[in-house]
Amino acid sequence: MIKRIFCQVLLTSFYLFLHVSCSTPDAEIRIIKDFNFDWKFYLGDIATAKNVDINTESWRSLNLPHDWSIEGTFNEEHPTKPEGGALPAGIGWYRKTFTVPKDWKNKSVAIEFDGVYRNSEVWINGKYLGKRPNGYISFSYDLSDYLNHGNEPNVIAVKVDNSSQPNSRWYTGSGIYRNVRLIATQKLHIAHWGTSVKTPLVTTEMAEVELAVKLQNDSEIDKVYRIVSQIFNSKNQQVARITSKERTILAKKTDSITGTTTIENPQLWSIQEPNLYNIVTTIYENDKAVDTYQTPLGIRFFDFNAKNGFSLNGIATKILGVCLHHDNGALGAVANIHAIRRKLEILKEMGVNGIRTAHNPPSLELLKLCDEMGFIVQDEAFDVWSQKKVAEDYHKDWEEWHIKDLQDLIRRDRNHPSVFMWSIGNEIREQFDSTGIALTKELVGLVKELDETRPVTCALTENIPEKNFIYQSGALDVLGFNYKHKDYQYLPERFKGEKLIASETMSALATRGHYDLPSDTIKRWPPAHNADFDGNSDFTVTAFDKVSAYWGSTHEETWKTVKDLDFIAGLYVWTGFDYLGEPIPYPYPARSSYFGIVDLAGFPKDVYYMYQSEWTDKSVLHVFPHWNWNEGQEIDVWAYYNNADEVELFLNGNSLGKRFKTDNDLHVSWKVKYSPGVLKAVSKKDDKIILEREVITSGKPAKLKLSADKAELVNDYYDIAYVTIEVLDTENNSVPEAKNTIDIKVSGGAKLVGVDNGYQANLDSFKSNSVRVYNGKAIAILQSNGKLEDIILEATSQNLENEKLQLKSIAKH
Ligand code: GAL
Repeated sequence: MIKRIFCQVLLTSFYLFLHVSCSTPDAEIRIIKDFNFDWKFYLGDIATAKNVDINTESWRSLNLPHDWSIEGTFNEEHPTKPEGGALPAGIGWYRKTFTVPKDWKNKSVAIEFDGVYRNSEVWINGKYLGKRPNGYISFSYDLSDYLNHGNEPNVIAVKVDNSSQPNSRWYTGSGIYRNVRLIATQKLHIAHWGTSVKTPLVTTEMAEVELAVKLQNDSEIDKVYRIVSQIFNSKNQQVARITSKERTILAKKTDSITGTTTIENPQLWSIQEPNLYNIVTTIYENDKAVDTYQTPLGIRFFDFNAKNGFSLNGIATKILGVCLHHDNGALGAVANIHAIRRKLEILKEMGVNGIRTAHNPPSLELLKLCDEMGFIVQDEAFDVWSQKKVAEDYHKDWEEWHIKDLQDLIRRDRNHPSVFMWSIGNEIREQFDSTGIALTKELVGLVKELDETRPVTCALTENIPEKNFIYQSGALDVLGFNYKHKDYQYLPERFKGEKLIASETMSALATRGHYDLPSDTIKRWPPAHNADFDGNSDFTVTAFDKVSAYWGSTHEETWKTVKDLDFIAGLYVWTGFDYLGEPIPYPYPARSSYFGIVDLAGFPKDVYYMYQSEWTDKSVLHVFPHWNWNEGQEIDVWAYYNNADEVELFLNGNSLGKRFKTDNDLHVSWKVKYSPGVLKAVSKKDDKIILEREVITSGKPAKLKLSADKAELVNDYYDIAYVTIEVLDTENNSVPEAKNTIDIKVSGGAKLVGVDNGYQANLDSFKSNSVRVYNGKAIAILQSNGKLEDIILEATSQNLENEKLQLKSIAKH
């Protein structure tokens, strides 16, 4: 039973004056150490690697997070298969030698891993700490009893075993691919994931905030304590606080305590204004602060409704989401916050307001950024339960681990305001037989025990109620349906009174910058299960939105259907970005997906602008394809536009006619007899020009253009800049089909950590010092190497003018 024993206090200057001893404590009382630096790595298995005294001189030195798979070469024979990205997996060992200060003897010390793919086992100073099969889950170990203090070194050894394959339907990466930190606290401290905040009542005038805190006393004696939780707004002004009475926590025990307060005139968290508060909880022992812990808070209220869909803070809102896998393209699974931010920025610009973390717990960085940037996250736990999808997948660990894995996901993520739904699974096999009923009830029960503030959903495929046993459990709050957009209209009748979301949609296919003509007919590639089809010999798929997998649709087909159906809360398009693995519809050498609205390198495909024209208010006019064809050839020209009545197309100054969208159209088009020159589109509203766009016939490749997404890199070893490489002709027009090879040299305060061109069948290494431009573009990814020196990227290529780019390296604050 929840005890409301905290005193509820509204902050006034008067109150502050009376309680000076409760000022914000010194952050050093909880030491959070970045533990990513100076590891040793060995690719392979060594039986003695867990022992303290082994010679690791020949091992490679590196910093985490690290994914060894992405460093490998593509090969169709790798047991990961092209579905898994055709990169190597296997076993690897990580070791780190470190010392801790003498005064840590009296502290509790834990190591936190955000994610290790997979089957990690950890030893400290030869002592076994435990195992964690799930490659996406965060976990921690208590090191306190095994540490050496002062000058005597400690050795932490981590074995990562990703050798049983295939264990995934997509690329997973291998290794300690997310962050690691060391936490040192006093013996009396707030437990791991020890706070839980909710807002039981929110109006525009006030918000009731309820905070549960779990404390842990690792010492041999009982302790008397009180806690104070201060709530700060985004300007760092304290707006409320919760204080407890004195309590006793027994030796070696935990204690849980819940309190409430009220925030007047709260700044609500929304997609447009993701206002955040920060709760700083401090434990006091005899008026001395002994631990402090931060909990993010976003105040919002929302509703899923069977008739009207989703509303946020009382405003009807369609969830315009995309599904994302966890990889960051050329960086592999490495969870780097700058790489993830770039992805989210590109999606936000397109009008995306929701992310589905397909099909596993995401990185903490993704959730932090979704909190800050305003995304509606469907946080997903599993792709399989006890019945497998591939031979060595999580079904093998299900029995032993699913309860803990699910509980840990909820405990870790429940304070993120961006998380709106828990998804207990994707296209789970148990929906088709009666075992689904009990399992669904069990999983939903586990979630509700830890968080009853969010709906639980599951991404289902079976939309006939009698055949769907997950639905029949009656336990889901929101029914997610994947694909079958033509059936959406029947769902309210079939699933009376149920709340509905299109949890996965489209699976349309495209290669950036590639166009097959004509563009009139829709194709399903492949057309049916195991069916042959005539694809393109170069493993491309047209970027006219005309091709999808047979179970899916083009982007236009589903969006047209779903946009006016109020009872559908929203959709998550498969997928926002191309990802490694699952190269449907092609066999090897295709090794990454074609589903993205944005390619693997981060370049938008054309359909990005269809969404932008529909999902944002900003004026859009996008005309394509490129204008380098054969004289006389008939070319389909498409334009996506909005905020205008019509678009007029001109070729070399001659009008080719006006077009406007009728009914449900999402684009306009012309058939044009090609002759080189300037193709110009003009959108107009009430006869006033809104936008103009030109596509110009280019000459031969002549030079390079380099542009970075930032001018400065912080010298913190983490900061990343993406440099776009484009091939231009002598007149500075981009050459749309250029395929030149570019050599890259980087000096100064950064190193080259990846190259890519977004082409799904490119077998060149992501770690190469050269990149072949694909359809005119490529990227080079630079990461700080810690040096405070100007960064110079030199790009050279046969028969092209060389080009240099300079970035600053600036000091970390
Ligand atoms: C879905 C599945 C996704 C992905 C997609 C490809 O059925 O949920 O993980 O495989 O198909 O179209």
